[in-house]
Amino acid sequence: MATHRYLIVGGGLAGLSAAMRLAELGADVDLFSVVPVKRSHSVCAQGGINGAANTKGEGDSPDIHFYDTVKGGDFLADQPFCKDMCYAAPGIIYLMDRMGVPFNRTPEGNLDFRRFGGTLYNRTAFSGATTGQQLLYALDEQVRRYEAAGKVRKYENWEFLSAIIDSKGICCGMVAVNLATMEIRAFEGAAVILATGGPGLVFGRTTNSMINTGSAASMVYQQGAKYANGEFIQIHPTAVPGMDKLRLISESARGEGGRVWVPKKKDDPRAPETIPEEDRWYFLEERYPRYGNLVPRDVASREIYDVCINLGLGIDGKAMVYLDLTHKPAEELDRKLGGIIEIYEKFVGDDPRKVPMRIFPAVHYSMGGLWVGYEKTPDGLLDRGSPKNHMTNIPGLYAIGEVDCQYHGANRLGANSLLSCIFAGLIVAPAVMEYHKSTQGDFSPVAENERKRMADRLEQLRKMNGKENPYRLHRELGDLMERNVTIVRENTRLRETQEKLEALQGRWKDCSALDDATWNNRPVLFLHQLWNMLELAKIIVKGALLRDECRGSHYKKEFEIKQPKDPDSPEYQKYLRLWKANHDQWAKTTIATYTPRGPEITYEKVDHSLIEPRPRRYD
Ligand code: FUM
Repeated sequence: MATHRYLIVGGGLAGLSAAMRLAELGADVDLFSVVPVKRSHSVCAQGGINGAANTKGEGDSPDIHFYDTVKGGDFLADQPFCKDMCYAAPGIIYLMDRMGVPFNRTPEGNLDFRRFGGTLYNRTAFSGATTGQQLLYALDEQVRRYEAAGKVRKYENWEFLSAIIDSKGICCGMVAVNLATMEIRAFEGAAVILATGGPGLVFGRTTNSMINTGSAASMVYQQGAKYANGEFIQIHPTAVPGMDKLRLISESARGEGGRVWVPKKKDDPRAPETIPEEDRWYFLEERYPRYGNLVPRDVASREIYDVCINLGLGIDGKAMVYLDLTHKPAEELDRKLGGIIEIYEKFVGDDPRKVPMRIFPAVHYSMGGLWVGYEKTPDGLLDRGSPKNHMTNIPGLYAIGEVDCQYHGANRLGANSLLSCIFAGLIVAPAVMEYHKSTQGDFSPVAENERKRMADRLEQLRKMNGKENPYRLHRELGDLMERNVTIVRENTRLRETQEKLEALQGRWKDCSALDDATWNNRPVLFLHQLWNMLELAKIIVKGALLRDECRGSHYKKEFEIKQPKDPDSPEYQKYLRLWKANHDQWAKTTIATYTPRGPEITYEKVDHSLIEPRPRRYD
């Protein structure tokens, strides 16, 4: 008899929210995570979670949130998913509040909301600047209740290796490895839900946790799952450097009034706190008077790039600017930004209450991911009862959270990620249960073969004894991708990158496993992940190379259509015609399909059925 257990891979917000909802609906869940679930990458999302509760009487609404979301994503997101998420958002925040998340409150005791990028409203609920961590802890507690009741079984320190797909192409389980004992086991599942996060480590040092290799997504891509919009990688404008990784300084710093500036004079030798107002250039405030420091991340990152690289005004000649909170009372900073203040103090050594922070842009998030579908009701909204919601093109294989391609289009609004992760978990649960009523895979005939395929693969890797060090190769991959595939992209450099990726894959074959232990062998797993990262890098680069336009986080100067300032001018009419022609050609989802020769790219229509696309403006 086929199993009724659902397999969830990933113990971040998306995975925990799906586990909680499935258990609540009466289902049994196996939850896999490479780290203890409370250590998942969701802890790194700091500043808040969006929901148009309109508690400050500003006239905000879920419809405006929906509009800001699709406009922020430069009209590349399928709209029914976004609309449903924005309507669910206030309820999700109140649900998390009731679960005990210590959200900041106003003096009257109401939930407090602050501003974030890409909106003019105070729409972001927050817990100091450790919101992701607090949300994660609350969901973890809920899942523990179900664990104690026997509905959820946890497999912490297990890594997903591959999907088990039967002869009809149905996913009916997965193979995973125990990171300590290296046991490789096949698990049967009524459906498999990947909630494994993004591929940040493809870019080397980023704001991501060191577990975000994208390896699980890459494995199922190599098994036939489609990967969508890989080229849309978000650069967060404000991070601090580190030899090991980059650390996020949350957008909430700007939401709470932080001002971004550089000295007007190149190489000004003065300490920032001694530079008078008239010698500072608040370039975001000057260029975007309406949104100021709270333009969306893609816009802010490009402006910082322009000021630092094109104008040469970055601090110490680098892509680095000041993020200044020193005009705010220290007590308020501690209350509203607790978390990032300490991170900056600890890793840089300066006190941001007294000295402007030095920050620079860093890779932060992948808008793209595994392609997932959905169904609509006759009136064009998301059909909550459909088994297709969040299903990949492999029946029985689902994806939620950063590993899916939905909600954010070409650029994500800050504080929409915590929301989309929890929301996706809540709607995937009924979807998989509905799916399982009509479809069941045939596990037994295929499970052992797939388990053995993975066991043989890891055994081959363990015996690799070449000249190359996989960790050094990864550093080269990260440097290459960071240099050529981030804020500004050029076709010549993207082509070079493609060639270098081929060369890196060639050199991978000459790697050493570094360690031949048969237990707790992390280098062997890293070799496996590195190959998978190289496959994802190829998707990202080819998608970027073929997309000859500027949209959201993807910017190619040679294809920029400059927007005139005055919308009533004849130039603006001419611009609109060019914009429309470009939009007709490129408002498409990029779909990558695996072939052994590299990704094959096709395009799919975006669902613009609810809001008419238009040029994005923030000035
Ligand atoms: O800046 C931040 O606090 C990050 C939040 C997010 O990426 O959504």
